[in-house]
Amino acid sequence: MTALPRRAALASLTVAIAMAAVTGALAQARPGGDRALGEYLAGECAGCHQMSGRSDTGIPSIIAWPDEQFVAVMRSYRLRERDNPIMQTIAGRLSDDEMAALAAYFGSLAPRPASQ
Ligand code: HEC
Repeated sequence: MTALPRRAALASLTVAIAMAAVTGALAQARPGGDRALGEYLAGECAGCHQMSGRSDTGIPSIIAWPDEQFVAVMRSYRLRERDNPIMQTIAGRLSDDEMAALAAYFGSLAPRPASQ
Protein backbone atom coordinates (compact mmCIF):
# COMPACT_ATOMS: atom_id res chain seq x y z
CA MET A 1 0.00 0.00 0.00
CA THR A 2 1.40 3.36 -0.94
CA ALA A 3 0.12 6.60 0.47
CA LEU A 4 -0.74 7.81 -3.02
CA PRO A 5 -4.34 6.56 -3.38
CA ARG A 6 -5.27 7.94 -0.02
CA ARG A 7 -3.70 11.26 -0.87
CA ALA A 8 -5.56 11.30 -4.19
CA ALA A 9 -8.82 10.52 -2.41
CA LEU A 10 -8.14 13.30 0.04
CA ALA A 11 -7.42 15.70 -2.81
CA SER A 12 -10.67 14.87 -4.61
CA LEU A 13 -12.56 15.19 -1.34
CA THR A 14 -11.03 18.64 -0.90
CA VAL A 15 -12.11 19.55 -4.43
CA ALA A 16 -15.62 18.29 -3.74
CA ILE A 17 -15.86 20.37 -0.57
CA ALA A 18 -14.54 23.44 -2.39
CA MET A 19 -17.09 22.95 -5.18
CA ALA A 20 -19.92 22.55 -2.70
CA ALA A 21 -18.83 25.81 -1.06
CA VAL A 22 -18.83 27.59 -4.43
CA THR A 23 -22.24 26.18 -5.36
CA GLY A 24 -23.60 27.24 -2.00
CA ALA A 25 -22.17 30.72 -2.46
CA LEU A 26 -23.78 31.01 -5.89
CA ALA A 27 -27.14 29.91 -4.53
CA GLN A 28 -26.85 32.67 -1.94
CA ALA A 29 -25.61 35.23 -4.47
CA ARG A 30 -28.72 37.39 -4.25
CA PRO A 31 -28.28 39.49 -1.13
CA GLY A 32 -30.89 39.41 1.58
CA GLY A 33 -33.79 37.40 0.30
CA ASP A 34 -34.22 33.67 0.84
CA ARG A 35 -35.09 32.54 -2.69
CA ALA A 36 -36.44 29.14 -1.63
CA LEU A 37 -38.83 30.77 0.82
CA GLY A 38 -39.80 33.20 -1.94
CA GLU A 39 -40.59 30.34 -4.29
CA TYR A 40 -42.84 28.81 -1.64
CA LEU A 41 -44.62 32.11 -0.92
CA ALA A 42 -44.99 32.84 -4.63
CA GLY A 43 -47.70 30.19 -4.84
CA GLU A 44 -50.13 32.79 -3.53
CA CYS A 45 -49.13 35.30 -6.21
CA ALA A 46 -49.25 32.89 -9.13
CA GLY A 47 -53.03 32.87 -9.24
CA CYS A 48 -52.92 36.43 -10.56
CA HIS A 49 -49.35 37.27 -11.63
CA GLN A 50 -47.98 35.10 -14.42
CA MET A 51 -44.59 33.48 -13.79
CA SER A 52 -43.87 33.83 -17.52
CA GLY A 53 -43.78 37.60 -17.15
CA ARG A 54 -46.79 38.07 -19.42
CA SER A 55 -49.39 40.65 -18.48
CA ASP A 56 -52.09 39.80 -21.03
CA THR A 57 -54.64 39.28 -18.24
CA GLY A 58 -54.22 42.94 -17.23
CA ILE A 59 -52.31 42.05 -14.06
CA PRO A 60 -48.79 43.50 -14.24
CA SER A 61 -45.64 41.43 -14.59
CA ILE A 62 -43.57 41.27 -11.40
CA ILE A 63 -40.60 39.18 -12.57
CA ALA A 64 -36.99 40.23 -13.17
CA TRP A 65 -37.26 43.39 -11.07
CA PRO A 66 -34.32 44.64 -9.00
CA ASP A 67 -34.81 43.46 -5.39
CA GLU A 68 -34.87 46.97 -3.91
CA GLN A 69 -37.59 48.13 -6.29
CA PHE A 70 -39.72 45.04 -5.63
CA VAL A 71 -39.46 45.46 -1.86
CA ALA A 72 -40.15 49.21 -2.08
CA VAL A 73 -43.36 48.60 -4.05
CA MET A 74 -44.52 45.86 -1.66
CA ARG A 75 -43.87 48.13 1.32
CA SER A 76 -45.85 50.95 -0.27
CA TYR A 77 -48.85 48.61 -0.59
CA ARG A 78 -48.40 47.56 3.03
CA LEU A 79 -48.29 51.22 4.09
CA ARG A 80 -51.34 51.87 1.86
CA GLU A 81 -49.42 54.50 -0.09
CA ARG A 82 -50.25 52.46 -3.17
CA ASP A 83 -53.94 52.23 -3.66
CA ASN A 84 -54.97 48.69 -4.49
CA PRO A 85 -57.06 46.82 -1.89
CA ILE A 86 -56.00 43.34 -3.05
CA MET A 87 -52.31 44.11 -2.91
CA GLN A 88 -52.70 46.08 0.31
CA THR A 89 -54.23 43.02 1.96
CA ILE A 90 -51.59 40.67 0.56
CA ALA A 91 -48.65 42.94 1.44
CA GLY A 92 -50.15 43.64 4.86
CA ARG A 93 -49.67 39.98 5.77
CA LEU A 94 -46.02 39.83 4.67
CA SER A 95 -42.99 40.52 6.86
CA ASP A 96 -39.90 42.34 5.57
CA ASP A 97 -38.07 39.00 5.30
CA GLU A 98 -40.92 37.52 3.27
CA MET A 99 -40.92 40.51 0.93
CA ALA A 100 -37.15 40.17 0.47
CA ALA A 101 -37.61 36.45 -0.20
CA LEU A 102 -40.29 37.15 -2.82
CA ALA A 103 -38.03 39.80 -4.38
CA ALA A 104 -35.19 37.27 -4.62
CA TYR A 105 -37.43 34.66 -6.22
CA PHE A 106 -39.35 36.82 -8.69
CA GLY A 107 -36.19 38.79 -9.48
CA SER A 108 -34.47 35.57 -10.54
CA LEU A 109 -37.15 34.62 -13.07
CA ALA A 110 -36.56 35.38 -16.74
CA PRO A 111 -39.39 36.23 -19.15
CA ARG A 112 -40.54 33.27 -21.22
CA PRO A 113 -41.88 33.40 -24.78
CA ALA A 114 -45.65 33.36 -25.28
CA SER A 115 -45.74 29.92 -26.92
CA GLN A 116 -46.62 27.80 -23.85
C1 HEC B 1 -55.93 38.37 -6.47
C2 HEC B 1 -54.92 38.77 -7.45
C3 HEC B 1 -53.52 39.08 -6.96
C4 HEC B 1 -52.73 38.32 -6.15
C5 HEC B 1 -53.05 36.98 -5.51
C6 HEC B 1 -51.46 39.03 -6.06
N1 HEC B 1 -51.49 40.17 -6.77
FE1 HEC B 1 -50.00 41.56 -6.95
N2 HEC B 1 -51.19 42.71 -8.06
C7 HEC B 1 -52.49 42.42 -8.44
C8 HEC B 1 -53.04 43.54 -9.19
C9 HEC B 1 -54.45 43.63 -9.76
C10 HEC B 1 -52.02 44.51 -9.25
C11 HEC B 1 -52.09 45.91 -9.87
C12 HEC B 1 -52.48 46.82 -8.74
C13 HEC B 1 -52.30 48.27 -9.01
O1 HEC B 1 -52.70 48.74 -10.05
O2 HEC B 1 -51.70 48.93 -8.11
C14 HEC B 1 -50.88 43.96 -8.55
C15 HEC B 1 -49.66 44.61 -8.40
C16 HEC B 1 -48.53 44.06 -7.85
C17 HEC B 1 -47.22 44.68 -7.85
C18 HEC B 1 -46.86 46.02 -8.48
C19 HEC B 1 -46.77 45.81 -9.99
C20 HEC B 1 -46.49 47.08 -10.75
O3 HEC B 1 -46.14 46.99 -11.95
O4 HEC B 1 -46.62 48.16 -10.19
C21 HEC B 1 -46.38 43.83 -7.19
C22 HEC B 1 -44.89 44.01 -6.95
C23 HEC B 1 -47.17 42.69 -6.79
N3 HEC B 1 -48.46 42.86 -7.21
C24 HEC B 1 -46.66 41.61 -6.10
C25 HEC B 1 -47.45 40.53 -5.68
C26 HEC B 1 -46.93 39.45 -4.87
C27 HEC B 1 -45.48 39.33 -4.41
C28 HEC B 1 -47.97 38.61 -4.63
C29 HEC B 1 -47.97 37.35 -3.79
C30 HEC B 1 -47.48 37.46 -2.45
C31 HEC B 1 -49.13 39.16 -5.31
N4 HEC B 1 -48.78 40.33 -5.92
C32 HEC B 1 -50.38 38.57 -5.31
C33 HEC B 1 -53.17 41.26 -8.16
C34 HEC B 1 -52.73 40.25 -7.35
